[in-house]
Amino acid sequence: SASNTPRHFLDLTELPTSELRNMLAAAVAMKAKRKANADADKPLAGKTLAMIFDKPSTRTRVSFDVGMRQLGGESIMLTGAEMQLGRGETIADTARVLSRFVDIIMIRILNHEALLELAANATVPVINGLTRKSHPCQVMADVMTFEEHRGPIKGRTIAWTGDDNNVLASWAHAAHQFEFKLNVATPPQLAPGKAMRDWVKASGAAITIGTDAEEAVRGADCVITDTWVSMGDKDGEHRHNLLKPYQVNAKLMSLAHKDAIFMHCLPAHRGEEVTDEVIDGPQSVVFDEAENRLHAQKGILAWCLGAVA
Ligand code: CP
Ligand code: NVA
Repeated sequence: SASNTPRHFLDLTELPTSELRNMLAAAVAMKAKRKANADADKPLAGKTLAMIFDKPSTRTRVSFDVGMRQLGGESIMLTGAEMQLGRGETIADTARVLSRFVDIIMIRILNHEALLELAANATVPVINGLTRKSHPCQVMADVMTFEEHRGPIKGRTIAWTGDDNNVLASWAHAAHQFEFKLNVATPPQLAPGKAMRDWVKASGAAITIGTDAEEAVRGADCVITDTWVSMGDKDGEHRHNLLKPYQVNAKLMSLAHKDAIFMHCLPAHRGEEVTDEVIDGPQSVVFDEAENRLHAQKGILAWCLGAVA
């Protein structure tokens, strides 16, 4: 029955905006408490998070681990290669077994179907810690960061310049959920595919998909980019050639609104998708954004485990 379905966090499209807002409100409140050294509540005391990493991570790994500790719980770090998963145990059986030991699971795995299979077979909540398709935890932190710096994101204009990837997909989902405009510029060869275009049309989200970086950025309140070579991409040199005109440099940034901020999920490849001048410049909020992974995910963890309304 529906009441027995764990509160998974798989994609921003899967949850009502009100629930996403509840998580962000909890995140903002917990961040404020933390900054005031008043982090006494331990809503997840006695709870254990299993983190499965089939791909490398710095931010996701550390922020989930520290987040669980701050909430009073614990975490266990597992890498796909060291698990029986790496020797062919199924995702479904892994889900069934881990559900007997831990209270919640976070997984980073490129195959999005594997994430869904894990969730379908787990009796505890599952969190998407990045797949080839999406990166919803990142964009929750990004929305939180935008709003901290510039107020409500509703009605604002966010520009993406780069390739079509997992982070962009979650930004598109967020544009629909949080009602902001998203201008996307990608090389034609690395543009969002039919599934994303169909979703944009069906959702009615205010998303424009083009190929001109300057046009996308003009007047925007926030400029975002990401690495030109995501985990799992093989054609690195080809992608670099296609993506050169999409670099966020001072000239491109100057076309955005004068108060525009710059965001990047990190890790950054300086001199490639972004210049030092921009990422280290006054408009960049990339380290606030990285910090907010911790706070946003505390909101997500608490929501998944029923510690948020
Ligand atoms: N932005 C992000 O998810 O970083 P990691 O790959 O270091 O977790
Ligand atoms: N698009 C990047 C994000 C890394 C956090 C990747 O998938 O590698």
